[in-house]
Amino acid sequence: MNTAKQTGIAKLDINGRTIELPVLSGVEGPDVVDVKRLYAEADVFTLDPGFTSTGSCESQITFIDGEKGVLLHRGYPIEQLAANSGFLEVSYLLLNGELPTQSEFRKFTHEVTQHTMLHTQMDRFFEGFRRDSHPMAMLTGTVGAMSAFYPGAMDSSDPDERHLAYIRLIAKMPTLAARIYKYNVGQPFVNPQNDLSYAENFLRMCFAVPAEKYETNPILAKAMDKIFILHADHEQNASTSTVRLAGSSGAHPYAAVAAGVASLWGPSHGGANEACLNMLREIGSVDRIPEFIARAKDKNDPFRLMGFGHRVYKNYDPRATVMQETAAEVLYELGIDNPVLQVAKELERIALEDDYFIEKKLYPNVDFYSGVILDAMGFPTEMFTVLFALARTVGWCSQLNEMIEDPSQRIGRPRQIYTGAARRDFIEIKSR
Ligand code: ACO
Repeated sequence: MNTAKQTGIAKLDINGRTIELPVLSGVEGPDVVDVKRLYAEADVFTLDPGFTSTGSCESQITFIDGEKGVLLHRGYPIEQLAANSGFLEVSYLLLNGELPTQSEFRKFTHEVTQHTMLHTQMDRFFEGFRRDSHPMAMLTGTVGAMSAFYPGAMDSSDPDERHLAYIRLIAKMPTLAARIYKYNVGQPFVNPQNDLSYAENFLRMCFAVPAEKYETNPILAKAMDKIFILHADHEQNASTSTVRLAGSSGAHPYAAVAAGVASLWGPSHGGANEACLNMLREIGSVDRIPEFIARAKDKNDPFRLMGFGHRVYKNYDPRATVMQETAAEVLYELGIDNPVLQVAKELERIALEDDYFIEKKLYPNVDFYSGVILDAMGFPTEMFTVLFALARTVGWCSQLNEMIEDPSQRIGRPRQIYTGAARRDFIEIKSR
């Protein structure tokens, strides 16, 4: 790829020498000091745990301006995509770089719907799990297990094999996620029905039962589709970087995506919406909010306001605004007067006026309202991160593909500063 332009030089004085490092400019965002040759030229590494000042790749997929609260996919603002597009169209955009024409979109939709079924042998995996297994434990295992069914995908040098792997992953994730939910609740698996939209099909596979006729609710299907769009990609976050790192060794794409699922699980990342809803429930009523705000500000209390703050956004997460509107639509449609939504709205209002949150630039993130919607739809909290993973699969695939096609990418291998024991000689156990 390498389309970033050199626009300057940074000089580093070190050990009595001046090293010149190229300064690169992308299309948007701050300039970047290219330190690739630093070790070779100056015999030093850079140290940046948490990668707050470190870029790992050049990418053309997603851009975030955290200060302004901007999120673009292939240049298109997320608000426009959420308002005017659908998840499969956004998926095409992320994977291919351009919005599809009508015939391209028909072909892509057909391809995805032709791959929604799982190999029947996959169903046997579920029987090995305890009924109360956490859905993310099952998802991590079963996505990784899919690599056993598609050995051809190991050939990452073949663009057709790569394309097929991405189509299969996008197509099968809803079926897998729905089976995980059904296994937890002890209901029979529902097979995909390909004349339904992506979101309708997923909701049906989750909530239809053989004993009753199931009718899709267009408002809920639209909300589900929006949630998928809002979670589709988010540049080099922890799980995406994990997928790229795992894939950089040439690992099977399903295994690399399984690594992304594992990374997404944690409460600082994809698990935050589950943690956020639990927190809103724990707060319970508007009058208890000050107590929780005080705890969030107390340095001696590890409690954090879940759904607030973001590594990159130091302004409103643009996805949170869409999510808040969608939450209101879903609750209205379902006729739910949810006290949790009242707590969420009031908590947001109070926190946004509080000096601590203003100073630290802590704003609601995408997870603040998504839990309220998913809960109203009938998903148990443990399923929330699974739905996030389902939607993020297309982002992981797009990023993985970009990495594979980038000739400058090598196996990811960060360095360290060693602060352990200096060299010493082994002492026999009886002499210690
Ligand atoms: N509540 C209270 N204080 C907070 C919060 C919060 N939610 N988030 C950050 N802070 C404070 C920290 O205590 C720290 O204060 P200090 O400077 O006095 O030590 C300061 O803000 C900076 O916090 P860091 O943890 O250094 O910021 P970082 O960028 O590493 O963390 C993160 C970002 C993990 C998202 C954090 O804000 C957080 O834990 N939020 C709650 C969990 C959450 O909602 N995660 C979802 C993220 S979105 C996603 O993954 C889809």
